[in-house]
Amino acid sequence: MLDVNKVREDFPFLKSGRIYLDSTATSLTPEPVLEKVLEYYRECRANVGRGIYNAAQAATFAYENARVEVAKLINAKPEEIIFVRNATEAINLVASGLKFHEGDKIVTTILEHHSNYIPWLRVKNTKKLELSVVLSDMEGHLSPSDFAPHIDGHTRLVAVTQTSNVLGVRPPIKEIAKLAHDEGALVLVDGAQSVPHKKVDVKELDCDFLTFSGHKMCGPTGVGALYIKEGLQELIEPLCIGGGSIEDVGLDYFRLRTGPSKYEAGTPPIAEAIGMGAAAKYLLNIGMENIEDHERNLTRRMLQGLINTDGITIFGPKDADKRAGIISFNLKGFNPHDVAVALDTSSGVMVRSGHHCALPLHKHILKSPNGTVRASVYLYNTNEDVDVFLETLQEISRSLA
Ligand SMILES: Cc1ncc(COP(=O)(O)O)c(C=O)c1O
Repeated sequence: MLDVNKVREDFPFLKSGRIYLDSTATSLTPEPVLEKVLEYYRECRANVGRGIYNAAQAATFAYENARVEVAKLINAKPEEIIFVRNATEAINLVASGLKFHEGDKIVTTILEHHSNYIPWLRVKNTKKLELSVVLSDMEGHLSPSDFAPHIDGHTRLVAVTQTSNVLGVRPPIKEIAKLAHDEGALVLVDGAQSVPHKKVDVKELDCDFLTFSGHKMCGPTGVGALYIKEGLQELIEPLCIGGGSIEDVGLDYFRLRTGPSKYEAGTPPIAEAIGMGAAAKYLLNIGMENIEDHERNLTRRMLQGLINTDGITIFGPKDADKRAGIISFNLKGFNPHDVAVALDTSSGVMVRSGHHCALPLHKHILKSPNGTVRASVYLYNTNEDVDVFLETLQEISRSLA
């Protein structure tokens, strides 16, 4: 079980008493991660993969060790982890680096964050591909049978989120991957909202690519990871080439390295990657199952309170077992931004409002083009956080009566 009071001591941001319910946008960062970042700056501030003096070796060791920790988090091998800036860059890397042929098909879903949607729209337009969008029901549910009609022998890639950043629903990745692989297609999983919150095992999912961001999993901003299944690097050209990614260069030729460094041209985000490794270790020490259980309890409490609040429309399933700790809703008579401002000014409760970078979902499924209010929980949130949020929301609701 997770000891939330002990966890909270690690997060300096919480000392002010503010209530942070926006971890879907970005998470808070604990002291052990901050310490690890500062340790690099204080003790071995040198470039990686280049110098042979002691500090450079120490920096390279810390950077490569971070890759090991991040790999452990998703049960991958370190050689399968590429450090990038964020999940968005990881998805763009695959979209621009994968060779497509005219007539190839890409399959994605209406649940996707723009970062896993518009890169595919762009390759569809530039490379004359077909883009097939799997629609969910009103609550965001997607079943393997929804995918089956979209996947055939022309499908090159299926790109799907493991957890919706709006509805918290979790498409059945394992079954989708099986359908795709049976037709010879590749599978990219957007793990931005799953990897920080639950046990994710790339072997079990059998995905080919998995993308996630450090800043959503208690790590620093400016770093993320792309998992490329062993043996598939040959299919993906790097976004950038240059220093660090080169095996050999002559006057009129170059040969790229193999392994992660093929994709990590230039000086990488060293401190940030070290911090991401520390964050992976921090989460694993607490236990992904403990984090998931803790969030489920908070989600159940929040859903129950929202159901009992006048004028609330909850989007997505009402059952905490069917969703992650991300709840989008609207309050009748209020613009979502006004609700977010009122929560902050009345009680210091921070939530997100708007379309959460998921306009197709808001327009076509939720029919809520003005957006929604989104509250999300993480390992450091408490029952009291949820209660203050709900009480303030009830006050806001009553203010219109
Ligand atoms: C599901 C999902 N995918 C991708 C992203 C993009 O993440 P980043 O902004 O870190 O690149 C987000 C960010 O909110 C997200 O929620």
